[in-house]
Amino acid sequence: MSELLNGQRIVLGTCYYPEHWPENLWKEDLRRMLDTGIEVIRIAEFAWSKVELTEGNFNFDFFDRFLDLAEEVGMKVIFCTPTATPPAWLTQKYPEVLNADIKGNLYRHGMRRHYNYNSPVYRELCVRITEKFASHYGQRKCIIGWQIDNELNCEKDLFYSESDTKAFRVFLQEKYGDLEELNRAWGTVFWNQTYTDWEEVYVPRYTYSDSVNPHQTLDYVRFISASARSFAKIQSDIIRIYAKPGDFITTNGLFGHLDNHKMAEESLDFMTYDSYPDFGYCLDMYDGSPAALRDRKWGKNLSEVRAVSPVFGIMEQQSGACGWNTRMEAPNPRPGQITLWTMQSVAHGADYVSYFRWRTCTMGTEIYWHGILDYSGRDNRRLEEIRQVNKKIKAVSQAAGAVYEAKVGVIKDYDNIWDAEVDCWHRRVDRLSQESLFAAAQRSHTPLDYVYLTDTLEAEDLQRYKVLFYPHPTIMNESRVRLLSEYVREGGILVTGCRSGYKDMTGQCVMDKLPGVLADLTGTDIPEYSLIAPDAGKVMVDWEGTVFEAAVFTDLLEAAGEHARPAAFYTSDYYAGTCALVCNSYGKGQAWYYGSAFTEEAAEVFLDKLGVKTPYKNLLEVPKECEIAVRSKGGERYLFVLNYSKEPVRILFHKEGLDLYTKETVSGEKILEGYGTMVVKLKI
Ligand code: GAL
Repeated sequence: MSELLNGQRIVLGTCYYPEHWPENLWKEDLRRMLDTGIEVIRIAEFAWSKVELTEGNFNFDFFDRFLDLAEEVGMKVIFCTPTATPPAWLTQKYPEVLNADIKGNLYRHGMRRHYNYNSPVYRELCVRITEKFASHYGQRKCIIGWQIDNELNCEKDLFYSESDTKAFRVFLQEKYGDLEELNRAWGTVFWNQTYTDWEEVYVPRYTYSDSVNPHQTLDYVRFISASARSFAKIQSDIIRIYAKPGDFITTNGLFGHLDNHKMAEESLDFMTYDSYPDFGYCLDMYDGSPAALRDRKWGKNLSEVRAVSPVFGIMEQQSGACGWNTRMEAPNPRPGQITLWTMQSVAHGADYVSYFRWRTCTMGTEIYWHGILDYSGRDNRRLEEIRQVNKKIKAVSQAAGAVYEAKVGVIKDYDNIWDAEVDCWHRRVDRLSQESLFAAAQRSHTPLDYVYLTDTLEAEDLQRYKVLFYPHPTIMNESRVRLLSEYVREGGILVTGCRSGYKDMTGQCVMDKLPGVLADLTGTDIPEYSLIAPDAGKVMVDWEGTVFEAAVFTDLLEAAGEHARPAAFYTSDYYAGTCALVCNSYGKGQAWYYGSAFTEEAAEVFLDKLGVKTPYKNLLEVPKECEIAVRSKGGERYLFVLNYSKEPVRILFHKEGLDLYTKETVSGEKILEGYGTMVVKLKI
């Protein structure tokens, strides 16, 4: 059985860099960690040169000595492959392993993640170092699992090296077979881009504008994802050979241009995530934008991890102020915030939380990215807070393995996420709707899941949601429509927004009435559509007396078919009186087509009218500053209340429950201190 995420316990860990510290500190550090309640450390993800200082000369002593100590004191270890930072000798001798910018300039040694996934030499050397690490250290008793690389696609998720172009051609040949098909899929007849030889095909290259062929770009992003996945897989295949039974494989994400679902399915036991909520908390330090949900917004990322692994780990949890020497400054967590952010992770499904990092680094780019301890290593307030967190974690540990409860989901898929990157109309509506749906759900205390429409998803997986929003599935195909139709036919409620169904899988627009293949399911026809004109003022929608604002775009709708009815109308501009929302009864369920993007207000109206808003209101009432999350298993509910404000708040329990921190019964009114958290156990 795996030591982590085994449904038995919630565990705390930290990230440690033995290579950064004098060896005489190691033992004391490990003991102090254990004394604080930290049972697991992650090591070695940037330490290639500690084992292969020069090409082909392997020396395992450094980590052998460290692992001996870990075993002596009883510390468990997550060991990493070191491929995120190739050594200087490697990039000097084999510059083809380097990634490049769009003009072909190579990224040189001095940062990290400067390699490309497709260089045959790099793959060979990564296979070798992974094999050396796994075969030498794999049987060590203290090792409980492995992390592949570090943050695949972080910092750079675009690759333009020569190896990438070569591999891209192979990817396209496998996908399309011949150039004629490729030309058709990429619409190369437009602006005379037709290819007559595979050697003419490249990853996107420098032009005077960023409007490179969008269909090519979409395939290019799919290719980057496939490259990262296969890079992860060659490593996990090796680790599986040498690791002890039960030792897990993970990697820490989530980053762009990577199908994390496929990667997890092919290579990982579960996903881990690096959570730094401070960047939401102090958003207005950077761009002055309204930091409406601040650190609470990190729940969105945590919900994304949960979409990959329902129960997951946090490989790096913020434990101090953040910053590089050049960017990203964020303040020291206030008293209570480390606890709050740890519990935020646990509330969303984390059964392992590992703090980044034990000691703050005294050198390099990350001298301001603080760990638990400051430079001196002396005991401090944050260490003491983590000691207290540990007591709370122990108290709620019985919730391990419990699954986050949500009756509302937002469907996503990688094709549309990536299309929104290359298509500014798609991007504008999607960004707004995604933010709005999340914010409306958070503020109305309506737990929300993300559900990815993957190849392996079945209608049954959708059935557990009463309402599913699929805000703007611009790209759509028949098999996805079949799945959605089955969900609705069996009683589900599906809500789509404007711009749905007008592109095929290549990203080309369909020569059809809109919303294309979604017409039948949604009972909708769209004779006309437009971006909202800059002088249109506020465009309003009236849904049986509830009036709210349409945003960015208006599909002008007609209900089509005998089961469809117009449910709401635009009240502004030349389309006043035109249908803005169609409700189509389909089997036992309903499909709703809304002609615009969702503002937060509109999203809340939908949650309310569709009967899924504030599902726990008969259990408790909390003010809007608080988040409610519920994890459940075996007839028990674990209800998390998280107060994101620095002021105390009043909570009213309508039902009795057991406060797991204090072991006291709670009912009626309760004051939760600033940044306070509580976990209450209730019978379902
Ligand atoms: C993460 C990364 C760590 C460290 C940290 C602070 O993204 O995995 O290695 O760099 O950020 O920058």
